[in-house]
Amino acid sequence: MQTQKATAIAFPNIALIKYWGNRDQALRLPSNESISFNLGDLRTTTSVEFDPRLTRDEVSIDGHAVANHAYERVVHHLDRVADSAPAALKHSMPALLDGRLRARVVSNNTFPMGVGIASSASGFAALTLAACAALGMVKTEAELSGLARLGSGSACRSVPGGFVLWRDAYAVSIAPPRQWNLVDIIAIVAGKHKTVGSTEGHALADTSPLQIARVNDTARRLNLCEQAIAHCDFELLASVIEQDALMMHAVIMTSQPSIIYWVPATFSIIEAVRELRRSGVPVAFTIDAGPNVHCICEAHALKQVKQALWQMDGVRDVIQSDVGGPAYVV
Ligand code: DP6
Repeated sequence: MQTQKATAIAFPNIALIKYWGNRDQALRLPSNESISFNLGDLRTTTSVEFDPRLTRDEVSIDGHAVANHAYERVVHHLDRVADSAPAALKHSMPALLDGRLRARVVSNNTFPMGVGIASSASGFAALTLAACAALGMVKTEAELSGLARLGSGSACRSVPGGFVLWRDAYAVSIAPPRQWNLVDIIAIVAGKHKTVGSTEGHALADTSPLQIARVNDTARRLNLCEQAIAHCDFELLASVIEQDALMMHAVIMTSQPSIIYWVPATFSIIEAVRELRRSGVPVAFTIDAGPNVHCICEAHALKQVKQALWQMDGVRDVIQSDVGGPAYVV
């Protein structure tokens, strides 16, 4: 067998309606539906090369060989991709059938890792597309999204483009990037960050008595968010995404054990964003499983929001991105 190589590009995404908790943890089937948009100015490029000469899989991210849990997670995902091959392909490649197919995975991000931008979303979306393409598998977008989900839940939302809805097994696009000129301005806060990974966090969601109320209310928030996107209604978007993020953090804070991702600067930025909005600037906040604040604004407000953020104590960096397209094979 010759080596078989392919490269794919995927973008991280920011959830407007959050995914938190799984009804099936192993399959990453979510407790609730979620909506996001892709961050087209931040990208992950991943090459997968199946090479019969390799005795073990090799994984490098941003120029560093990856080991331990992160390595296992990638290798496990390659096994899933190989497993998903149709019977005819498996029979034409015996190494695929008995699990001896080894790959060299090289992944690079244009954004810093570990700053609260979910590199696992773009990472597993790009890995899925590259691995399938390297094996010559043709899959639908829904199949690729469903496969990416098994690696990291939110990765299924990085497969389709623009504004994306993840209902259960896979995600679909509900509007193209040009639908609404929104920008995500990410305020990276200084200080020591508590690191409880989202996988661990999802597993704790049901220990909070608030999770059931949050899950039962999902259809309402989803509907408001879809309306806001369809009509480019910023006031509506702001009220529903801020409430949604606060509901997720209320669950996180009241889980057992309790997790608090916020630091003092997180509160200051929330206040500043609300103050800006009161003065007429179309900006709203959302916060993932970390202390950084994603300030979602209309593109014409970009300069003003960035200026305000840079002036704040505790803001270490500011990263921005427009709405991006789907993941693709290069
Ligand atoms: C807070 O998709 O990172 O960003 O499935 O364990 O990889 P795993 O979790 P992940 O969880 C994302 C959580 C979130 C909210 C969201 O993106 O919807």
